[in-house]
Amino acid sequence: REHSIVWKIAQSPLVSKIFCAPGNPGISELAECINITVDQTDQLCEFAVEENIDLTVVGPEAPLVDGIVDIFNEHGLKVFGPDKKAAILEDSKVFSKSLLKKHGIPTADFKCFDDYQQARRYIASKEAPIVVKADGLSKGKGVFVCKTNDEALQAIDSIMKDKVFGEAGDQVVIEECLIGEEISLLAFTDGKNIVAMESSQDHKTVFDGDTGPNTGGMGAYSPVPLMTDELYLQVEKEILVPTVHAMNREERPYKGVIYIGLMITDAGPMVLEYNVRLGDPEAQVILSRMKSDIVQIMLATISEDLDKVDLEWYSQASVCVVMASGGYPGSYDNGKEITGLDSLKNQDGISVFHAGTKSANGKIVTNGGRVLGVVACGEDIEDAQKNVYEAVSKISFDGVHYRRDIASKAITPPTSTI
Ligand code: AMP
Ligand code: GLY
Repeated sequence: REHSIVWKIAQSPLVSKIFCAPGNPGISELAECINITVDQTDQLCEFAVEENIDLTVVGPEAPLVDGIVDIFNEHGLKVFGPDKKAAILEDSKVFSKSLLKKHGIPTADFKCFDDYQQARRYIASKEAPIVVKADGLSKGKGVFVCKTNDEALQAIDSIMKDKVFGEAGDQVVIEECLIGEEISLLAFTDGKNIVAMESSQDHKTVFDGDTGPNTGGMGAYSPVPLMTDELYLQVEKEILVPTVHAMNREERPYKGVIYIGLMITDAGPMVLEYNVRLGDPEAQVILSRMKSDIVQIMLATISEDLDKVDLEWYSQASVCVVMASGGYPGSYDNGKEITGLDSLKNQDGISVFHAGTKSANGKIVTNGGRVLGVVACGEDIEDAQKNVYEAVSKISFDGVHYRRDIASKAITPPTSTI
């Protein structure tokens, strides 16, 4: 995600120099990478002051939730993203579900628990499938869609007893399982105006056919054919606008990118989750289709002038396939040499965005669970899918794992079983 953000920012005529902290070998081709990690807020702020940085863009959720925007603002620095009060929307599922309920925004029925035994008893009283969610941040891995009550009890054990997500598991949300297709809808908002981006669909589970555990995201495509103009208007009226208003009414005005994870059910669109930043890998496909200058949009968001800008898109489709380390989202080894990257450099319509990579002895090696996001554009989804898998086939590393069915759903809609 951060590589695609840097790639898009680098295209802006307003920008002459980009620094990225900490960056990776892919980003280092576009920006000067600096050795500060995302959690070193004070050092990041010091750096921005010393270098007179005109605009700081925050990629991931953790620093937003920690209040990096508040600290930069206190130092008079321009920064893009919601402040700590608003970032709670992603930091706490108990908060976001309560907000949805209080403001009548459609979402799955749920209950929240901070007591392990009560959570277990509640599960015993329910019929599977059941969804169990850790309250706090868990890198996309804290949600368990359980087919049986036993699985749900196991999820409660790992979240509340074994504390696999630490404090993020002090509370859980247990909710009704929704059936439908998922769409990610992202929008810029300055708290007064909302400018929606093009729709995209993530593929959350690790294996083909939407099986296996949830990950941070294994691939995405944009646009989503299911998102008709009519559906968009419904989402705007019932979900997007009410969410921004709800945050204002809660005195948590929201500025930045708001990400709404939707399930399109028979009863209409419902909110699965909120994120307070660009999605990963949604950013990779959305930004590949964005025609407008993102820096201008970000500056207009900060100055509350979003009504004065237009957001334009390329009509072509894009598909992103995430190449992951074998074992992800569980444990995996780092340091595997990645080959084939050079063959894709400067190929029109293809971008290889780096995630968990690093340089070692003149080579690029794996350094994380999700290693690369390969993006291809095409006339339509089918064309983009063909192009992306052709590109993926040129890259390899020991143990590489990727899904072979990214975007297939947009081409052959799944048939429902009776
Ligand atoms: P979340 O982080 O809350 O979006 O959840 C991650 C993923 O879990 C979602 O993208 C869905 O695939 C799935 N999920 C979450 N909540 C539900 C639900 N109530 N019903 C069915 N699937 C869900
Ligand atoms: N792709 C899901 C996320 O960014 O949270």
